[in-house]
Amino acid sequence: MCYQRGLSMFVTILHNHDHALLEDDPGREARADVVNVAAAMADALSGGKRRVLVKPVDDVTSVADALGDAPDVVVNLCESLGADSRGESLVPAMLELAGLCFTGSSSLALALSLHKNKAKEILSSRGVPTPRAMVIERVEDLVTVDLAFPLIVKPTREDASMGIGFDSVVRDRASLGKAVSRVLRTFHQPALVEQYVEGREIYVPLLGNAGRRALPLTEIQFGAAFADKPKVLSYTAKWDTSSPECLDSPSRLADLPRGLQQRCIAVALDAFEALECRDYGRVDLRVDASGQPWVIDINPNCDLHPQAGYSRSAQAAGLSYQDLALHLIELAQERHHGHQARRLAGPNAARRAAAPHRDLLGRRGGLRARADRRRRPAE
Ligand SMILES: Nc1ncnc2c1ncn2[C@@H]1O[C@H](COP(=O)(O)OP(=O)(O)O)[C@@H](O)[C@H]1O
Ligand SMILES: [Mg+2]
Repeated sequence: MCYQRGLSMFVTILHNHDHALLEDDPGREARADVVNVAAAMADALSGGKRRVLVKPVDDVTSVADALGDAPDVVVNLCESLGADSRGESLVPAMLELAGLCFTGSSSLALALSLHKNKAKEILSSRGVPTPRAMVIERVEDLVTVDLAFPLIVKPTREDASMGIGFDSVVRDRASLGKAVSRVLRTFHQPALVEQYVEGREIYVPLLGNAGRRALPLTEIQFGAAFADKPKVLSYTAKWDTSSPECLDSPSRLADLPRGLQQRCIAVALDAFEALECRDYGRVDLRVDASGQPWVIDINPNCDLHPQAGYSRSAQAAGLSYQDLALHLIELAQERHHGHQARRLAGPNAARRAAAPHRDLLGRRGGLRARADRRRRPAE
């Protein structure tokens, strides 16, 4: 198996290092935090026969360089590249091309979950409950919105509550227009206008592939700071740790009637599978007054900070942070062992799949040389 080369296992932890790239980055705090996660992971994985390197990356070239020394397994913590959230799916795409063993979901699953409208299309087509929504690309198109108020307006392809504030929840056309303009202007991307679901906010952390299971569910406890405000986990509530919203929205283990808990888990598993997520992740739900869970967000690359909800749920299930880190690596190795490139290795293997990996990233010089040869006859 990929991890048994030599005596030790060589683990590379990749994380984005792009929080200081933009002067005015609306997601700066969220992007900065991943550095702490990488350090905690490195701490948890160091020891035994593992050699662990932490590699910050901020563009495609730095990812290629970071992979040059062929790690046995990559812990992929990248949530963006170059301060652009779309870069999140480019990193696993490069890992896939290089044939490397890595933790977490594929580039396809990460791209689909990031593009909330695409994720919702797939969920709806499979009958997984998700609130009705529309995508608005220009303010002129606001007249086409035919959803009933209240609505919530969010950037179509961001994460970590970027762009979410109290004024994202709108109850009339004038505030809808303002919220949509704000998203278009700040994030330079379409706005998702979605039916706002009043009700409890429940998170379902999922772990594993064959035999996937839910870890203990958590719930956001909206306190006094939300008394006459919409109960949303805004960017401030998530990242400004001294704000009343943050102090008043702790996440706790959810105490749910058994039937509701089972419904939440079933919906979350369906959503996770619909997007082909794998290894670990979290599905966020709002539960309406009738007890129906609605999927509002799928996080295949959820926050793995030791103090974040996912790790605390793992702990409640008896997995220490170190157990969790080691288990994520095991899951990646199990998947990779069955990877097509490995299965095809042998006398009749296709040439493309025979090598341990195709080293596409390491042979940029070679690719250029071939391109030069092709051009020569025309010279
Ligand atoms: N349809 C919705 N109904 C009610 N609250 C919502 C809805 N969508 C989002 N929210 C609130 O906004 C927060 C952030 O939205 P989410 O879709 O999870 O964005 P992100 O991907 O940035 O985390 C959620 O945690 C929740 O509190
Ligand atoms: Mg979310």
